[in-house]
Amino acid sequence: MPDQPTFLERIPTIIVGDHDEMGRLVACRIAELIRARGRAGRRTVLGLATGSTPIGVYRELTRMHREEGLSFAQVVTFNLDEYYPMEPGSLHSYHRFMWENLFSELDIAADNVHMLRGDVSREQVEGECRRYEDSIRAAGGIDLQLLGIGRTGHIGFNEPGSGVESRTRLITLDLVTRKDAAADFFGEDNVPREAVTMGVGTILEAREIVILATGEHKAHIVRRAVEGEVDHEVAATFLQRHSSTTFYLDAAAGARLTRIGTPWLLGPVEWTPQLTVNAVTWLSHETEKAILKLTQRDYAEHRLSSLVAAHGTPGALNGLVFNALGAKIRGRSKLPRRRQIICFSPHPDDDVISMGGILRKLVENENTITVAYMTSGNLAVFDHDVRRHLDFLSRVAGERGMAEGAVSRLLSRVEEFLTTKRTGDVDIEEVRDIKRMIRESEAVAGLRTLGLEEGAARFLDLPFYQTGKVRKDPIGPADVAIVRELLEGSRPDLVFVAGDLSDPHGTHRMCKEAIDRALAESVAGGMPRPEVWLYRGAWQEWPVTEATWLVPLSQEELRLKIQAIFKHQSQKDTAPFPGPDEREFWQRVEARNKGTAAELDRLGLAEYFAMEAYVVEEAR
Ligand code: F6R
Repeated sequence: MPDQPTFLERIPTIIVGDHDEMGRLVACRIAELIRARGRAGRRTVLGLATGSTPIGVYRELTRMHREEGLSFAQVVTFNLDEYYPMEPGSLHSYHRFMWENLFSELDIAADNVHMLRGDVSREQVEGECRRYEDSIRAAGGIDLQLLGIGRTGHIGFNEPGSGVESRTRLITLDLVTRKDAAADFFGEDNVPREAVTMGVGTILEAREIVILATGEHKAHIVRRAVEGEVDHEVAATFLQRHSSTTFYLDAAAGARLTRIGTPWLLGPVEWTPQLTVNAVTWLSHETEKAILKLTQRDYAEHRLSSLVAAHGTPGALNGLVFNALGAKIRGRSKLPRRRQIICFSPHPDDDVISMGGILRKLVENENTITVAYMTSGNLAVFDHDVRRHLDFLSRVAGERGMAEGAVSRLLSRVEEFLTTKRTGDVDIEEVRDIKRMIRESEAVAGLRTLGLEEGAARFLDLPFYQTGKVRKDPIGPADVAIVRELLEGSRPDLVFVAGDLSDPHGTHRMCKEAIDRALAESVAGGMPRPEVWLYRGAWQEWPVTEATWLVPLSQEELRLKIQAIFKHQSQKDTAPFPGPDEREFWQRVEARNKGTAAELDRLGLAEYFAMEAYVVEEAR
């Protein structure tokens, strides 16, 4: 039942296993269309999107071109949008994105690629937009339009307020959209305030539309778009009026659809233990009552009588769920002792942000802990921090009579570069190195705060991250080999892995891929499989219903954890990659850990001060 579409869904929706499967399915549909039209001697006109979501589709199309001879010689493309103002050669332009991620790999003729220009003068924008519409018409209209969805519900850049009749035009970007783009632009202030975009009306004229969303941060807006009323405040709802639209979601983005989140509202369900916990917890929220106080009437009024019937009485059911949640709580005495543990941290600070509390407890339990920092995180260090550290270095060198020549040469080389650097320029090697070292020293200081020695830190510096740009290379054998060497060297009993999908720049997802691949190879080679505990990064937490373990933190432990986070000074005050949330990392951590504990209070369990949450990954 849950994997079936429902009458509440007003856009046909398919939930896929993961980002890669989505890429394959959608690329197959596009290839099928290109081939079918090719056989009939016709060209295919594709409408394309940028952003993090369609990258898997583009990767798969590239592979099909390379390995299966899928030709794009008869394909014409129109992209949805471009920032304004924007030079086509800029690191941030959608022109560049499309050439780097797709066109340069294909046999498509440059003349067949159409993109809105972000570099025309303000007086010329209107004409540019009109010409774009004319070219789409002249090409015979769009056969298949690919879309992503923004957290505002935008398709293209049709922000709230965009009407169903809107055409290609200049638009002001919503604040939420600009925050989401801040990571790619090295800070929100650098994100353009405007964009040129195809209108909702332009998009709806496509003969077929495929819209994609991945990650839990999209779950809310996906539900609104698929199950909500048509409303010009959420442009994606207009797709409900299109006769051939398919929405592809991964499980995280589909989590709030009724068929997944609250399927009992739709009809009879098979009551698994997980669904039982979800339903009773949900009912406790709906009625604002503790679990043990839920009555027969509460269940009956919320279409849950069949669940009570399966357990005999409300008391038995309430007790079952209360105990199931209580059994997730693991204080120090129930945590591993004297074991080999590796904590994989995508960036230097995810370790303390997400698991500073448990790390402290594991130190106290005399475990042997290695914290493996997978990337240097150098991209997220501001230039002014480089200057400050160099100033410090030259003062020490000067006052202590150390080799001043080398220091001043470094200083002038860096200064020369920084004074001419434009936003988004790739740093020279010296600057990248200094940024990496700043983060390494912060990571060590963070670990010391939790009682770990410097030797616990391992800096893996995986090659996939070392492009110097926000766009990373795919995970390759060299990345997997480095992780594998670490695993086989320490043969851990337990590893911690960042298991979140909503990392705005995808690095967490890629790090997990490197670990998954390395683990599979090592286990195939005879290494015993360690337990894998997934933690979530800075943006979200596991809900108590999904968590396998809830680890309580005392006031002192939370304070220590926050102090460890403070050691990451380059990420304090204003982090270059803040994500959609404006608060500093430590503030989010405090709210999230206290929030998890408060959630248990609300359900009527014991009152803890704060809590971290982990999911134990099933062996595959
Ligand atoms: C991009 C576009 C946008 C994005 C949307 C989602 O050309 O028009 O509507 O599709 O903002 O972006 P990601 O995929 O980065 O979450």
